[in-house]
Amino acid sequence: MKTLKAVAVAAIVVIALGVVAGIITWVVLSQRNPPLPPPELKPLDWWEHCALYQIYPRSFKDSDGDGIGDLQGIISELEHFKDAGVDAIWMSPIFESPMVDFGYDISNFYEIHYEYGTMEDFEELLAKAHGLGIRVLLDFVPNHASTESEYFIKSVAMEEGYEDYFIWADALPDPNNASNRLPPSNWVSQFGGSAWEWNEQRQQYYLHQFAIEQADFNFRNQAVRDEMFNIMEFWLDKGADGFRVDALPYLIEADPADHNGSYPDDPLSGLIQFEPHQLGYTIPLYTKDLIELYEIVYEWREFVDKYLKDNGGDTRVLFSEGYANVTMTMLYYGNEEGEIGAHFPFNFDFVTDLSAKSNARDFVYIILRWLTYMPYGGVANWVFGNHDNNRMPTRFRENMVDGLNALNMLLPGVAVTYQGEEIGMRDGYVSWEDTVDVEACNRGDPDTYHLYSRDPARTPYHWNDSMNAGFSTANRTWLPVAEDYPEINLAKQKASERSHFKVYQSLTAIRDSPTLSHGEYDIRALSDRTLYLVRYLRASDTLVLLFNVGERPDSVVLSRVPHLTLPATVYVSSIHSSRVNGDRIDGETLTLAAGEMVVLTAAPVS
Ligand code: GLC
Ligand code: MG
Ligand code: CA
Repeated sequence: MKTLKAVAVAAIVVIALGVVAGIITWVVLSQRNPPLPPPELKPLDWWEHCALYQIYPRSFKDSDGDGIGDLQGIISELEHFKDAGVDAIWMSPIFESPMVDFGYDISNFYEIHYEYGTMEDFEELLAKAHGLGIRVLLDFVPNHASTESEYFIKSVAMEEGYEDYFIWADALPDPNNASNRLPPSNWVSQFGGSAWEWNEQRQQYYLHQFAIEQADFNFRNQAVRDEMFNIMEFWLDKGADGFRVDALPYLIEADPADHNGSYPDDPLSGLIQFEPHQLGYTIPLYTKDLIELYEIVYEWREFVDKYLKDNGGDTRVLFSEGYANVTMTMLYYGNEEGEIGAHFPFNFDFVTDLSAKSNARDFVYIILRWLTYMPYGGVANWVFGNHDNNRMPTRFRENMVDGLNALNMLLPGVAVTYQGEEIGMRDGYVSWEDTVDVEACNRGDPDTYHLYSRDPARTPYHWNDSMNAGFSTANRTWLPVAEDYPEINLAKQKASERSHFKVYQSLTAIRDSPTLSHGEYDIRALSDRTLYLVRYLRASDTLVLLFNVGERPDSVVLSRVPHLTLPATVYVSSIHSSRVNGDRIDGETLTLAAGEMVVLTAAPVS
């Protein structure tokens, strides 16, 4: 009996243990299996992860042989954007202009500049681009108008409704010389010299934060604010997908009403290398980043959102331009009160805060600064160059072109390319005699103009190695074609097995991957020279960029890269890399040459 009882107890214990073990196994297995389903991905709006390309129309492609790029030229090369994997283009101004600042001095906001073509050309460009699935953004220049514009002419003449269209102010008496007059304040123009210009006819000064021929609108005048809506509406009605919005930090200046009726002087910087007429002599306290300007930007956002609601179609966007500190920059996205502004402010950190001198830690620090300060839900973007700054391979090193393009394409948000970056175009040389940039001409002389000139970044695009790099058939182009075009041009890069352009194509091609559109990011310096950027998302291949931004080779330990499971595969690498697409990476360390980047694909995170 006793033994029977013991056997029964033992059996029960065994069964119980079996059941417990079963439960444990079931719990463990059910946690592992089946694998979690892929995450649900929030559908993105067209602009949120687009590859955006800036065209400088004057230098892109000349169709009629006058040495100046034009709309028909752009139309003839629209395929280039498809080929490059670009989703949207923004064009520097194409509106009627005396071209003092090459289109940023607009004399008629509702007309196409004659050298660029006609309204029909623009409509054709829009239709064809849209036919190819390419969005088109225009440059909206609200801060100022050409002194040849109707607005200004009417304002000078004090025509009813236009009296206060611009910032007009009486001269100040000169305490030392009764027959002399002085400008209303010490404000300095961005292009050098006083920001005030005397107008004989009106016997008053007007404000110009840029060239003398670019008069600042008065944004405290409701009529001006209404006119800005009219301009935007006109181009949205034509079918534009939105705007790059120009020079916003300068939109509004101190109001004399707040300063006993006069314009307050900007404080002096105390920097002794500057004279009173030079930018840098003052600190732009009353002329830049004024808090009131953001209200105007928020109004514009309301306007485009309402336009969308009323007219349907796809989202019309505002991408704002302004060089400012990170706090003032982030306010363009919106404020803590819930007002929203631009879809994003352009991120110029790669232009202003990083250079050939930066190490991997600097890169990571500056990249994370944007991502840290960006408001919740914001869309990031990355700019590597534009028509106002030296070209990317010139500011950095040429062996970094592919790595910089890879950062651009793999970082979260919108990738912005300035024309030529996809083929690694460098600055062109422009002699003092050939210099046409108003900033260089005003601020510089034959010895110093190169410090200010924006012409080197504006030389014509290199299509091929024929005359004028295939840009134009003219005897003389508006700016000289850079001498290195036989070596650096699109046709050659398309024909060669490895080229910047081919790397660029591979990089834009992979942007469709959910890992890049929706995945998490992790970025860190592995050493002074090499950084990693990991993008990962459950159920989608992990992507890892390793980039040696230094001037010497560097060996990195791959186990220090989180979420990277080996073996990994080379997806693409710099043209000077010893690794080729498809190479298997399985070692403990990886050695990268100076400037080398590799993009690896690896198994998804679980
Ligand atoms: C912006 C433009 C620049 C222009 C200035 C004045 O900074 O990018 O080219 O000169 O505004 O419109
Ligand atoms: Mg032309
Ligand atoms: Ca202004």
